[in-house]
Amino acid sequence: MGTRGAFDVSLGKQPHPTAGPPADLPVAVTGRCEPSVAGDRRTLSIGGVVLPFPVQQAALSGYSDRPMRVMARRFGAPYTLCEVMLEQFVRSLRDRRRTRHFTFVADEDHPVGAQLMGDDPQGLAVAARKLVECGFDVIDLNFACPAKKKAARRCRGGLLLTQPDTAVEIIERVRDAIPADVPLTVKLRRGYDDSAQSEDRFWRIVEAAFDRGVAAITVHGRTVVQRYEGPSCWEALKRIKQRLPDHVMLGSGDLLDAESCLRMLRDTGVDGVSVARGAIGNPWIFRDLIALLQGRPRPAKPSVEEQADVMREHMALVIATYGVQRAVAEFRKHSVRYAERHPLGSEVVRAFARARTLEDWYAVLGRYYAVSRRWYVVSGSGR
Ligand SMILES: Cc1cc2nc3c(=O)[nH]c(=O)nc-3n(C[C@H](O)[C@H](O)[C@H](O)COP(=O)(O)O)c2cc1C
Repeated sequence: MGTRGAFDVSLGKQPHPTAGPPADLPVAVTGRCEPSVAGDRRTLSIGGVVLPFPVQQAALSGYSDRPMRVMARRFGAPYTLCEVMLEQFVRSLRDRRRTRHFTFVADEDHPVGAQLMGDDPQGLAVAARKLVECGFDVIDLNFACPAKKKAARRCRGGLLLTQPDTAVEIIERVRDAIPADVPLTVKLRRGYDDSAQSEDRFWRIVEAAFDRGVAAITVHGRTVVQRYEGPSCWEALKRIKQRLPDHVMLGSGDLLDAESCLRMLRDTGVDGVSVARGAIGNPWIFRDLIALLQGRPRPAKPSVEEQADVMREHMALVIATYGVQRAVAEFRKHSVRYAERHPLGSEVVRAFARARTLEDWYAVLGRYYAVSRRWYVVSGSGR
């Protein structure tokens, strides 16, 4: 863990006082069990990992580090995924302070999935085994990342959707390399592009994946070519799920609030939802979704004071993970997303973006979020 300094605070394992779910809810357990449906309150089984709610916090490169995952869990997310890691990176990792956080798994983190990307089946197999030894409960393969120049030469991530033979070999080697009780899952786009050939290749990979023991897939309803442009095609997710009645499939894309998660479950028939951008600066999305799944009203939006408490808690985890020197830079992208929900929105976003030191960061928090302060007087906008 990072250097502990003057700003470090205790990282208690208690859920945030305003976080869901309520105490009587089941926690995630491991052990074989069939998926069940009770109204909208479905459980979700990813192999032997049984989740009390059909939702995961998605892998989010640059975001879903341990602090973000811990916050998601404190607000009820039953399962979270790490940022994607390249197989070479994992294989080269040594026990060094600067990189230790990538593979650190604490008791409160379970169940947690590690996501791997690469083009070398044997390298991926070795990396997957190493991640299981680190304590990850699930290994997820990334066949979804949209091509970048460098990746284009390497054919990894979403480009593997154009190379079904390699994709299937990767699945086979990784499945063989990890213990039988550790679920293997695959994240993929609905296709490389909209061509019939792309659809055919998608199905070759998906059918082979389930034949070879993959426990679940997550499908992002955009193509690789689409990157993040345009809507995620939920109709495509529905069609895919209809062809997979006996297999577990989660849907991804445009899940920016609890209501859209519920809509995807109902409209597409997927077994679970993978919350990605909707969880950045917004751990409340899990509490809200659980309430809706239980037929309760959506909880009130967090007050400014509650936002401050949650940001402080998240920052404490960031300090513990990266140390005082790196904390503000690491947390900036989260701070600005949290700040978007402040009544003075863009003004607070700009203030956090300018913060360089922890003193600056806490000064912004004090200026805009202090309980004793009437935030709407700060700029006089009255919003
Ligand atoms: C900043 C960012 C980083 C992402 N990193 C990953 C990743 O590491 N692994 C992965 O499978 N998907 C990754 N994704 C894709 C998301 O998991 C998700 O499939 C996509 O954002 C669509 O969902 P959304 O529209 O609800 O955000 C990333 C997306 C974004 C925006």
